[in-house]
Amino acid sequence: MNSVFILNYDEKLVHSCIDKINTDVVFYFPVLNNFVKEKVEKLCHDKQINFNFSYTFDNENYKTIMVKNSSDFFKKIIEDFEKIKANHHTISFGVYDFGLMGDLNLNISLAKELNTPLYAKENKDYEILHFLLEQKLKNFVLLKNDEDFSLIDSYTYKTKARFSYELFEKAKSNKKTIVLPESFDERILRASEFLVQNDIVDLILLGDSNEICSKANALNIKIDGVRIINPKNSQYNEEFEELLYEARKNKGMSKEEAKNLIQDKTYFGTMLVHTNKAHAMVSGASTTTAQTIRPALQLIKTKSDVSSVSGMFFMSLEDQVYVFADCAVMPNPTSEQLAELAYVSANSAKAFGLDPKVALLSYSSGDSGSGISVDLVKKAVEIAKEKYPQYLIDGPIQFDAAVDIMTAKSKMPNSKVAGHANVFIFPDLNAANICYKAVQRTANSLAIGPVLQGLKKPVNDLSRGCLVEDIINTVVLSAIQAQE
Ligand code: ACO
Repeated sequence: MNSVFILNYDEKLVHSCIDKINTDVVFYFPVLNNFVKEKVEKLCHDKQINFNFSYTFDNENYKTIMVKNSSDFFKKIIEDFEKIKANHHTISFGVYDFGLMGDLNLNISLAKELNTPLYAKENKDYEILHFLLEQKLKNFVLLKNDEDFSLIDSYTYKTKARFSYELFEKAKSNKKTIVLPESFDERILRASEFLVQNDIVDLILLGDSNEICSKANALNIKIDGVRIINPKNSQYNEEFEELLYEARKNKGMSKEEAKNLIQDKTYFGTMLVHTNKAHAMVSGASTTTAQTIRPALQLIKTKSDVSSVSGMFFMSLEDQVYVFADCAVMPNPTSEQLAELAYVSANSAKAFGLDPKVALLSYSSGDSGSGISVDLVKKAVEIAKEKYPQYLIDGPIQFDAAVDIMTAKSKMPNSKVAGHANVFIFPDLNAANICYKAVQRTANSLAIGPVLQGLKKPVNDLSRGCLVEDIINTVVLSAIQAQE
């Protein structure tokens, strides 16, 4: 359905938008403005069309909510807007509390969050307005006189709130069961409450039911609807011990060791996934990456077209999402592993709604530099281009040439990836891990992950410093991986 975002109310502009769009329009106010609402209502009355309107926040409470949690503020707006847009054309209106220029940044953000082209009418600051909009938006309509205009294409921004909204909707569309072994952790219980109450996934917690429920009660956390399995007396124990022993006896594991290991919640949780009793596991709030993923490496193993498991992050920036890999698993990948990492990361990007353009990063672009690590990446690019022609892959390339069109033109003018990359393959774990944390901590970016790639079934690792929000995001990502 068509939609436009009107920056500043003007009767002629609204008139033209209604004529251009259709008469079946819902007027949407992210923040209700009674003055504009009354004007539009009168206009509809004069034109003899239905006045259908909707809003998310009233003028009284929006500032507090926006300041306290801007991500929730925008997410609620996106949720309401997308419900309307599924069945109606929409004309949305900006916020004008502080005048046109005072609210400009907020309104540009709203147009981006809604992915709805921005229309504005001339005012006394026309030149400045034009300059500012040009800096911040791909496309907009700014009418100086009464000239006619055509509707412009919708935007394709992936803001943090929109990416998160899309992930949650995808997870909900095909509900999966996720096992969370670390039920003793308050953060896990809080995340469980949110996930179950919002009907995003089904959950299994591991541990003693009485202990878990009384801890949740004491913290006033509702976990009704969560299944609890106690590895100490589970009906699955014999089956799991046998399976573990069979899988690892060649590596020297005894029956006794298998019996003991199944009591380890990470092994037990991995077994639930391995035997299809759960679709995915999320763990690591209290264990190291190695402890969390080793059972999965030993038992679940890799997909048939992948030899090495790796870990990628979605780096959600102001209005776009990048993939960084391998930030979590392989300390020193070979050229073959880097080539495969490019392929697996492109697959992941695609599965989560991105159009992958893969850059294999280095301190050198094209043929400009040399050295052992540059040669490693050069060879990886050769292998990747040969083996995975379905994807746009290029390198070695420096980060600036990978993301900036002007730099790309001078450093790698013939590359289809340079200047447009959104999947970034780092030469080793040091570079990738340092870089994702640097971007996360300094560039107002949300890092979602690590998402383990290449396993037959999803097992994902949490950082020990994770927040409830991180746990929720990782569970949502795991649920989507399980849909593949
Ligand atoms: N892909 C597939 N299989 C693997 C991989 C891999 N990348 N790495 C190890 N394996 C397999 C091994 O072949 C072995 O299989 P087998 O026993 O059936 O023969 C099994 O996994 C277990 O191997 P181990 O030798 O016990 O494990 P290893 O010592 O190789 O450790 C690990 C693997 C834990 C992933 C290691 O590479 C590691 O510690 N990586 C760094 C993790 C880390 O600290 N990351 C940074 C923090 S995470 C963050 O900040 C987000």
